[in-house]
Amino acid sequence: MEATLARGLKDVVLDTTESSFIDGEAGILLYRGYTIHDLAENSNFVEVSYLLLYGALPTKQQLTDFDKRLIAHRTLAPEVIDVIRLVKDAHPMDVLRTAASALAAFDPDTEDMSREANLRKSERLIAQFPTIVAAHHRIRNGEAPVAPRSDLTHAANFLYMLEGKEPEQEAVDAMDLDFLLHAEHGANASAFAARVTASTLSDMHSSIVTAIGTLKGPLHGGAAEAVQKMTTEIGDPSRAEAYIKEKLAAKDRIMGFGHRVYRAEDPRARHMRERSRVLGEKMGHSEWYQILTQVEKDMAPYQSRGIFVNVDFYAGSVYALLGLPEDIFVPIFAIGRIPGWCVEILEQYDNNMLIRPLLQYTGPKDLPFIPIDQR
Ligand code: COA
Repeated sequence: MEATLARGLKDVVLDTTESSFIDGEAGILLYRGYTIHDLAENSNFVEVSYLLLYGALPTKQQLTDFDKRLIAHRTLAPEVIDVIRLVKDAHPMDVLRTAASALAAFDPDTEDMSREANLRKSERLIAQFPTIVAAHHRIRNGEAPVAPRSDLTHAANFLYMLEGKEPEQEAVDAMDLDFLLHAEHGANASAFAARVTASTLSDMHSSIVTAIGTLKGPLHGGAAEAVQKMTTEIGDPSRAEAYIKEKLAAKDRIMGFGHRVYRAEDPRARHMRERSRVLGEKMGHSEWYQILTQVEKDMAPYQSRGIFVNVDFYAGSVYALLGLPEDIFVPIFAIGRIPGWCVEILEQYDNNMLIRPLLQYTGPKDLPFIPIDQR
């Protein structure tokens, strides 16, 4: 049978999902039927995590109970902190991957593949990721990790654990919005990779570790860091046009532009654009926003080819305005994406089929074997 080649699995529909809906032509994103715009304006990351994991918006009581469980799981086993210390000089994404793997050794449900246990593990992972990233950041700077505080929200506690002081409300709101916007996005490369691992009926932690490794690449999670480097390199809005021309002439990609699925503006981008503007004004650093909007203008001719800004384009400037170092931009994406990964893994388990595509062989055939002393 001659199979059709689908490089990059572009336009291949892998399975059905109830978690998120993306219309790439119209620039629409829904989480469990709710538009990302409604959620960005009215909800928060913890509520959205509940929505994704349990399939419906929580009642007040359900949200309070869920939040309490997440808060209770924020603290890491001391052994996991020891592991972070051992690998502290690696890239924060490598540290997150290693620590997430170590979590499995201390999770009471690691080998329990029941739906209930997988939901419990999902909740723990959502709660533990921020602590890992913050603890590593402190340790690599020669500081003691800051213990999580149970009176702070998920986003506020993350910033508190990073900096050791209570963050300002604008910073908390920006962080929470960022997590919410990244929470779920269908069969993106990392969620797909997680599904592949889950489809072998391997456990949840293994699937999550796969996802972290996949997110690290600059074509996926690493774009925000690359955009911020580009912004710093451009330095001034007046230099944007020449910079873009030069890059495109050299056939380089402009990071933060283009998307495998969207042929219109990524619906998440507008929220980060606005946050970048507001924070920039407040912090007295409007130049990054100005450079980014200028790059966007200079890239306008590419819109006719379906190349628009994606969520990462303005995200880097928001993180930088919050004073976060560039190498933790990708782990921050992971903190936001963990509920999405978990729900994709849960869906895979619920209706499993081993994911195993084919490759078209293009090498030689029927070669005679030559003994080693005659080669
Ligand atoms: N800058 C310049 N040109 C771009 C581009 C970008 N950021 N993204 C895509 N293109 C061009 C490609 O060069 C290609 O042109 P060609 O047909 O003349 O060769 C065309 O658009 C299609 O690109 P392709 O790589 O086939 O699309 P894809 O669906 O495989 O790629 C991305 C999607 C995300 C990998 C790609 O857009 C990209 O590399 N973007 C930059 C990284 C980024 O921001 N990633 C975060 C995604 S949320």
